[in-house]
Amino acid sequence: MILNADDQAIADAAALLRAGQLVAFPTETVYGLGADATDPDAVLSIYETKGRPRFNPLIVHVADRAMAERLADFSPLARQLADAFWPGPLSIVLPLREGHGLADVATAGLDTVALRMPDHPLSLALLRAADRPLAAPSANPSGRLSPTTASQVERGFGGRVPVLDGGPCKAGVESTIIAIDGDTIIQLRAGALARSEIERRFGIKVLSAARGARISAPGMLLSHYAPNAHMRLETTPRPGEAFLAFGPAPSFAGEIRNLSETGDLHEAARNLFSMLHELDATGAKTIAVAPIPHEGLGEAINDRLQRAAAPRDEPGR
Ligand code: TXA
Ligand code: MG
Repeated sequence: MILNADDQAIADAAALLRAGQLVAFPTETVYGLGADATDPDAVLSIYETKGRPRFNPLIVHVADRAMAERLADFSPLARQLADAFWPGPLSIVLPLREGHGLADVATAGLDTVALRMPDHPLSLALLRAADRPLAAPSANPSGRLSPTTASQVERGFGGRVPVLDGGPCKAGVESTIIAIDGDTIIQLRAGALARSEIERRFGIKVLSAARGARISAPGMLLSHYAPNAHMRLETTPRPGEAFLAFGPAPSFAGEIRNLSETGDLHEAARNLFSMLHELDATGAKTIAVAPIPHEGLGEAINDRLQRAAAPRDEPGR
């Protein structure tokens, strides 16, 4: 059920959340599948509804800094990052605070939590009305394309979850996830806040999480965001394929979408999942994807494309 997001719908959705039900809601990145993060049964139903492996912890969304500081211990650097980028598409992994009250399943039993304050009036209104931290992964069946519109959520879950409609998401890819190790910032997932933007504001290098490192994001599976079609990257299309283009004047006779004719990476990120959903819906067997520059938001876009193109032999994806 898609809900026109007026004050009444927000109040109703908040009541559902407080009663342990799931509600999907828009954020500036992608739509989230939300549950009261302090209610273990509610959080469990997120994993069941998505078909998500239980070892993959959820991002916990907060209404404000006071709520965040009740849940986790902020170092001075963590505070500076939150000051600089919240509300916004940055999830910060922090040590859980004594007496935090979060359900163990929300953090998959870790002693850390990924927190974020979303930059969207509807998510913030919902968080305030529910007056609870909300666990919310992207609102798609596990392993599939993330949703950036209410109708994609509705289709993904076959109408089983109420969806607050906030129109298309303005960023279009998930938040950037970072961890902090002393004075070092480690990027666990490239996302809607470009690494270069954090580096520019803080004047330090943002490191990459090495495979198997002590600090990592457990849910970063190689095959993810997968459309039904196969994907070929950094290439030109063959007859019969669909084509995801980038930049001016591509010539191709078949099904084509252009992430950004002007080569704007923000526009490309915003269009990425929607255009993949659309090309997939044409029934094409293969989607060829043009090369995308690896700078700025290109890092997050290429990350999603590589996972979408990865071999899919894991059962239960
Ligand atoms: O933009 C977003 O972040 C969206 C919207 C809805 O806010 N949410 C989202 O959540 O992308 P999800 O569940 O799809 O991604 C959660 C990621 C996983 O890769 C998980 O491994 C990582 O966050 N994560 C969560 N808690 C963590 C922790 N304590 N330590 C390391 N990684 C963590
Ligand atoms: Mg996801």
